Amino acid sequence: MMLHIPQVLTAAEVAEFRQLLVQADWVDGAATAGAQASQRKRNQQLPADSVIGKQLSTRITDALQRHPMFMSSTLPARIIPPRFNRYEGGGTYGNHVDSAIHIDPYRQDRVRTDVSTTVFLSEPFEYEGGALIVEDNYGAHEVRLPAGDAVIYPATSLHRVEPVTQGVRLASFLWTQSMVRDDWQRSMLFELDMSILRLRQKIGDSDEVVALVGHYNNLLRQWAEL
Ligand code: NI
Repeated sequence: MMLHIPQVLTAAEVAEFRQLLVQADWVDGAATAGAQASQRKRNQQLPADSVIGKQLSTRITDALQRHPMFMSSTLPARIIPPRFNRYEGGGTYGNHVDSAIHIDPYRQDRVRTDVSTTVFLSEPFEYEGGALIVEDNYGAHEVRLPAGDAVIYPATSLHRVEPVTQGVRLASFLWTQSMVRDDWQRSMLFELDMSILRLRQKIGDSDEVVALVGHYNNLLRQWAEL
C-alpha cells in the first residue's frame, strides 16, 4: 500500500527544521549504502552521530506517532530513527530495494524494514526533478509532496529518486518494522479501520460499529507479532 500522509509537520516546524539543517554537517550518502546501492546513490546525508540530526529525528518520530493515519497504516512495532538527506546538482538515487534489516544506530539491534517512509522538507516548486518513483504491480508512481507531508510505501518496492537538476530537495526517511509484516494484511486492517471511523462519524457507536471494532481487534490479534 502506498499512502499520502498529510501534515506530519506544521509549516512552522518545517521552517525550524530547515533552519537547523542548513547548519548541519552533511556527508556523502554513498558511505551508508550497501556496496551495490552506493554506486547508484549520489546525495548527502546527516551522519548517525549528528547532534542536530538526532534531535530532529526524535521530533519526526514523535510527530509520526501522534498521526492517526501513520499509526493505523503502519502498525509500528519499531521505528528506526529517521535520517535526513539532501539532493542537489544532479543528485539522484537509482532504482533499488531497501535493505531488509537495519541496525538501529542508537540501540545497536536489528530491525526488519517493512514500511518505508519519506517526509518531504522542501516544497515541490523549490526543485526540478527529484520525484520519488515507486514501482508496484500497477506501474510506476511519481511522488512529489508539499513540505511536511509524508508518503509510506512497502519496503519491498523497487524505487528511485530522480536527479535533482535545480534547487535543493531536503527530506527525512525512515523504516518501520510493523506488527503486521504482510503488506496485504496491513492494507486490509487500515481500510477496515478507516471504514469504521467513517461509519462511526455517520451513525455513532451503534452495536454494529462496536461489533466491527471487535472484528478489527480480533484480526489484529490474529496477525500481530510483537
Ligand atoms: Ni530507498
